Amino acid sequence: MSSTDQTNAPEDDFEPLIQAGHRICPSDRIQDQEEGFRFMVRTSDIAGMVGSIDHRVDETLPAFVIRFDGQAHAYLNRCAHVAMELDWQPGQFFTNDKTTIICASHDAQYLPDTGECISGPCPHGSRLIKLQIEEKAGEIFLCQANKKVFITDTLQKVLIKHGRDSLLPNF
Ligand code: FES
Repeated sequence: MSSTDQTNAPEDDFEPLIQAGHRICPSDRIQDQEEGFRFMVRTSDIAGMVGSIDHRVDETLPAFVIRFDGQAHAYLNRCAHVAMELDWQPGQFFTNDKTTIICASHDAQYLPDTGECISGPCPHGSRLIKLQIEEKAGEIFLCQANKKVFITDTLQKVLIKHGRDSLLPNF
């Protein structure tokens, strides 16, 4: 994987299509509880990461990454109430007090770290669709489908312990 095969314009009127395993944006592009970074993903790329995407239809979907308590989190930009984009201005996902993600349409609120809906009209127990990402060397990457999800920490430790870490996904 190369970190240079996709570029992200610093201006946010451009939403890059990010393929699995590729860079989403530089780490410093998203600051804690501030503006998020919008990008696009293909269902074929993320179908292995999330369970609620119909991968029979290969379409391009909006997504975003934000930072909360120092950690980057990425979600499909799709409310759990109605499949509408969340941000009230492009890239603006947080409430005024910066504690939750809010949907601009009907004010559903979500925990930034899990995507769990905590108020509003979304169905009980609903969540935003979270994407698997990895942050390393000052950049944020969309993980490869069907890899990180199915390799548990325990399995990683066993593989490393037995010198089989070459079998681990190379993000
Ligand atoms: S579409 Fe998000 S709360 Fe209704």
